[in-house]
Amino acid sequence: MECRIFDNYNDLSDAAAELILGIVERKPEAVLCFATGNSPVGTYKALAGMAKERGTDFSQCFCFGLDEWLGVPPEKSGSCHYLLFDQVFRPLGIKEEQTHLFNGMTTDVTTECRIMNGEIEHVGGIDCMLVGIGLNGHIGFNEPGVDMESGAHEQELHESTLASGQLYFNEPTAIAKGITLGMGQVMNARTLLILANGKSKAEIIHKACEGPVTNDVPASYMQKHRHAVLMIDKEAAAALSK
Ligand code: PGA
Repeated sequence: MECRIFDNYNDLSDAAAELILGIVERKPEAVLCFATGNSPVGTYKALAGMAKERGTDFSQCFCFGLDEWLGVPPEKSGSCHYLLFDQVFRPLGIKEEQTHLFNGMTTDVTTECRIMNGEIEHVGGIDCMLVGIGLNGHIGFNEPGVDMESGAHEQELHESTLASGQLYFNEPTAIAKGITLGMGQVMNARTLLILANGKSKAEIIHKACEGPVTNDVPASYMQKHRHAVLMIDKEAAAALSK
């Protein structure tokens, strides 16, 4: 795992955008997977600006969404579907047919997950997956205790995930479960880009980077990933010993 520490969030966001652009410029038909949340917002802004400036073409890419709240419709403003189209796909000119996202309104989660797993295999796996880290060490909705080889699955969400999740919605929203790509898919991404910023993430970054590799802290598995790039700001790096 490569760990890069930046002076501030802007520098981190620019570097993350640069990494993604580099992948797409080398491989225009790259398969990408994006998370929502606060951590990547700056990256998405930078990506849109830099792609426009450089004329980077995303028209041959294929994109997956990392996760979704179950029971939340795609058109609702806090849904992962809504946010990915708003922050990533529309600004980059990525069309709906170039994407595959979980449907939070599915009444058949098993089929929804089977289709997602099949689609990822069908396109030959994910070239670059961008994720954040939850305060409890989750990646996507892979909460502590998750099966580390899992594919797409439904997940009961922890209190801390529900509390921070509520902040993405502009009105109180009933959320209890999520649907997510599994840790097996996170570990199989050819590049795993992990972002964290701010002092609230310092403790979990310390555990994930310097603690034991354990499914109590799913993010600790990035230590074993064949190509993980962790980008953090100084505040999130504050509890690291090295
Ligand atoms: P955040 O969320 O980027 O909003 O901090 C990360 C996560 O919970 O996965």
